[in-house]
Amino acid sequence: MRTLTEPWTLGGHRIPNRLVLAPLAGIGNWFVRLQARRHGAGLAFSEMVSSFGLKYGDRRTLDEYLRIHPDEHPVPIQLFGHDPEVMREAAAIAAEHGADMIDINMGCPVRKVVKTGAGASLLDEPDRAVALARAAHEGSGLPVTVKLRSGQRPGELTGIELARRLAADAGVAAISLHPRHASQQHSGEPDYALAADLVDELEVPVILSGGLSSDERALEAFDRTGADAVMLARGSLGNPWRFERLLGLRDGEPTQGEVIDELRWVIERAEEHLGVERAGRYLRKFYPWYAATLGLRKRAAEPLVTAPTTADARAFLDRLSSGKAPALAA
Ligand SMILES: Cc1cc2nc3c(=O)[nH]c(=O)nc-3n(C[C@H](O)[C@H](O)[C@H](O)COP(=O)(O)O)c2cc1C
Repeated sequence: MRTLTEPWTLGGHRIPNRLVLAPLAGIGNWFVRLQARRHGAGLAFSEMVSSFGLKYGDRRTLDEYLRIHPDEHPVPIQLFGHDPEVMREAAAIAAEHGADMIDINMGCPVRKVVKTGAGASLLDEPDRAVALARAAHEGSGLPVTVKLRSGQRPGELTGIELARRLAADAGVAAISLHPRHASQQHSGEPDYALAADLVDELEVPVILSGGLSSDERALEAFDRTGADAVMLARGSLGNPWRFERLLGLRDGEPTQGEVIDELRWVIERAEEHLGVERAGRYLRKFYPWYAATLGLRKRAAEPLVTAPTTADARAFLDRLSSGKAPALAA
């Protein structure tokens, strides 16, 4: 039986195991990727970055989205866009900033992205999609991977057909498949049988995404589909210990002390990344994940999830670790 701990090769890079952090918009910055790797992830994809933002030299896109930590190589930077010439330049800029691979988003169903012709709308434009992948490779000289969905709407297999073409005509190094239709957004059962067929058919590695919310589901999907690797997404938020557990490096949930120390680490990194004030606002979406991992009751979690500043969040963690915060268990 295959195990998640076996090394594999992606775009010429040796990846130490088969567990990967998925690209997560607004979340997958350098420190979230670094955190996943500290806890065992073999690879961590960046959040999606606008190819237009890079080409037009938007400071925030360059300084924040392309920020890479020296300990996270090899790192794939995910780009989105619809224009091959812009993609060529953006991929070159990502390479100059230290990206080791370029991943192209062809699965995002969000209206703001789709209406520009990027993300999942590329499933209906295979010629453009192939041109984008080629341009990214030519511009950067790096291996290119693509993340896509099975199709736009139920019954369609445009994503599967596109995956074949990307492997045959664009020389992509891997395909990440989220076997849900774009119209399903992020709910409904992923079609793992479809993923298994694609794994059988393609010569390049296939990374499986979708529905891997529990350790059992991740192991079962890895086994059932024969995928080269599996991607944790929502299931890893506030719980990077899942990587360690799935790799057999630990048993059980983290202790309260471990979660508190981890969240302190996250707060510090966010301040380093964004400055104290912006970090306070940015982290508000992170706190509920950690409150859930801590098993806090809704009322007990409130001072954390509504913490206006990082100082308030730290004060809460101090009270919790000294036993002065109210009842813990959910
Ligand atoms: C908040 C959020 C942000 C996401 N951002 C991206 C992204 O930037 N690029 C991408 O390819 N997929 C993105 N996805 C999709 C995930 O990578 C993943 O394919 C999806 O969540 C299914 O996995 P799951 O069911 O295990 O969560 C995002 C998903 C969520 C929930």
